[in-house]
Amino acid sequence: LFSAVEMAPRDPILGLNEQFNADNNPNKVNLGVGVYFDDNGKLPLLQCVQAAEKTMMATPTARGYLPIDGIVAYDNAVKALVFGADSDVVKSGRVSTVQAIGGTGGLKIGADFLKKVSPKAKVLISDPSWENHRAIFVNAGFEVDSYAYYDAAKRGVNFEGMLTSLNAAEPGTIVVLHACCHNPTGYDITDDQWDQVIAVVKDKGLTAFLDMAYQGFGHGIAEDGAVIGKFVAAGLNIFVSTSFSKSFSLYGERVGALSVVASDKEEASRVLSQLKIAIRTNYSNPPIHGGAVVAAVLNNPELRAQWEQELAEMRVRIKAMRQKLVDGLKAAGVQQDMGFITSQIGMFSYSGLTKDQMVRLRSEFGVYGTDTGRMCVAALNSKNIDYVCAAIAKVV
Ligand code: LMR
Repeated sequence: LFSAVEMAPRDPILGLNEQFNADNNPNKVNLGVGVYFDDNGKLPLLQCVQAAEKTMMATPTARGYLPIDGIVAYDNAVKALVFGADSDVVKSGRVSTVQAIGGTGGLKIGADFLKKVSPKAKVLISDPSWENHRAIFVNAGFEVDSYAYYDAAKRGVNFEGMLTSLNAAEPGTIVVLHACCHNPTGYDITDDQWDQVIAVVKDKGLTAFLDMAYQGFGHGIAEDGAVIGKFVAAGLNIFVSTSFSKSFSLYGERVGALSVVASDKEEASRVLSQLKIAIRTNYSNPPIHGGAVVAAVLNNPELRAQWEQELAEMRVRIKAMRQKLVDGLKAAGVQQDMGFITSQIGMFSYSGLTKDQMVRLRSEFGVYGTDTGRMCVAALNSKNIDYVCAAIAKVV
């Protein structure tokens, strides 16, 4: 049965974790996967999460099946966070939100539903994009192409190219957009540029699918989420996948959501019924714990304030590490100006290093980033920064 089964390549991101774990180098540093570590190199367990769990443990509850679309209080909290509790779109019942297995699950449920609604549509992802975007939409049966995004020479966004690509897309094309903290480049478009993108999406009849896995890691929770409000204000039917993996440091709980904005309440209920079929046929219904923790935090003003504070600390520390990286590289003797690292945002820096240089970093120094040159700045700390800078200086 399996004699002709080919060996699949390692996952370009999570595969690095396997390699990292097997590496005996005592100085090894994992800048591969997008995970935040504190200044002691520890994965944080947020205080707000601990407080919510303590309360939950005090009244242990049995674990029945959740509804297919998840915990109601969770779905409502996501709607409020992403669209605003008092927004017209939420109050008028136009948003269908379902709990999903991480942001990846939200993308997959949305992709499966879209395959039913627009079976012939093409999907466009940014060039480059998170590696899994292409795979998720290809596996859902779509033809996936890309729109121009990164300009290596300019170290920024090729916005003219992006608009040209979007303008050339067939009506109905599904466009996967990074709402904030573009993964992998770290370069976002400006407010004014978002307005221009929205105008093209509207004029050309494209379908926007916003991936918002890093809300709160750019400029702030509200600031990063503002782009969603712009799409809604333009009267567009959009898809938004969200994730609490990073913002709650709940990676392994797989807690995310998919929200779809319909034209009216009745349409939204039909959309929801179809999303439930996509969930039921993929994994039946979501797990309880992560969603219950996030709902408990978001729906309690004190815990919510604590979460915002803890998320702000992560955001601020990452920014400080960006500056330390720029200074450290200079001090380590890197000639070229690496100042662009501080104009990037979110967890990642697209370093401009080549595949060969990234492979050398890994094999000679145990410093792990992706082959594309992406490094997770959120895993740098005051103890490993000098080592990382010295290693990079040796390979460039
Ligand atoms: C990343 O890009 O490193 C993260 O989103 C983790 C993942 O699932 O790839």
